[in-house]
Amino acid sequence: MAQVNIDGINVAFDDTGSGRPVILLHGYPFNRTLWDGQVAALKNSFRVITPDLRGFGESDAAEPATMARMAQDVAALMDALDIPTAIIGGLSMGGYVLLSFYKQFPNRVDALILADTRPQADTEEGKQNRVKQREQILREGMSLTADSMLPKLLTPETVSTRPDIVNHVRNMIINTKPAGAAAALMGMASREDQTDLLQQISAATLIVVGREDPITPVQDSQLMHERVQGSRLIILEDAAHVANLEQAESFNGVLKSFLGKFN
Ligand code: MLT
Repeated sequence: MAQVNIDGINVAFDDTGSGRPVILLHGYPFNRTLWDGQVAALKNSFRVITPDLRGFGESDAAEPATMARMAQDVAALMDALDIPTAIIGGLSMGGYVLLSFYKQFPNRVDALILADTRPQADTEEGKQNRVKQREQILREGMSLTADSMLPKLLTPETVSTRPDIVNHVRNMIINTKPAGAAAALMGMASREDQTDLLQQISAATLIVVGREDPITPVQDSQLMHERVQGSRLIILEDAAHVANLEQAESFNGVLKSFLGKFN
C-alpha cells in the first residue's frame, strides 16, 4: 500500500503492474480490495491503480465527501503519480465519481468502465433514506448496514454458496469508518444528475451490470448504453450489485476484451 497527501488527507492506494494506467474506483461502503481479482487479472498488461476513496479503507475520512471532491482526489493522485490520462473504471459510487471526473476532466479519460452504476441523482425518498442511514451508522456503527445491504449486493445463490465472497463484502463494510460512510452518504445524496453528460462522452465506454442488480438495475445501464455513443453493454447473468466479485471470471473476460485495444 502507498499513500499520498491530498490537501491534508492521506489517500491510500495500490499501484500494481506496468503498462497503460487503469484506475479502478470502488463503491460504497467498500474499499480498494473490491478490485483484487481485477488487479490480478490485469497486472501483467496494465498498471492498475486502486485508491481507497476518501473516508474508506485506509484513507482518511474528511468532509465534504462529494462525488466531485472524490473525483478531484483522483485527479490529484494522477498528478502525484505523473499520470496525465488513464482508463478509469468505477463500480456504483465509483461510477458516480467517474462521471463527475469526466465532467470535470474529460481530457484525462482514455476510456470509461461503468459497472453496476447509474447516471441519475437520488430521488427525494432516496435522499431521506441516506439521512436515516447516516444517523443509524453514527449511532450504531456499520454492522446493521452490512446485514441490510448484503441481500441487495449479492444474489441469494451467492449468499448461500460463496462464504468467501460474503465474508469479503461483509469485512469491507464493517471495517469502513462510520465517519467516512456518513460523509459519503451525504455526498451521494447531493450528487448531480449526470444523465445529460452521457451524450458528451466521446471516450470508449464499457457498461457492465449484474442481471439481478436491485440497487442500480439493468434499465439504468440500458439508459447509459443508449446515451453514450458507441458504448458496449454487457449484462452478467447470476450476479447482483457486485458483479465483479460474483462473476469474477466473466467480468475479467469482458474487461480484458474491452481493454485489449488499449494494450
Ligand atoms: C454502492 O454500491 O456504491 C452504493 O450502493 C450506491 C448507492 O447507494 O447509490
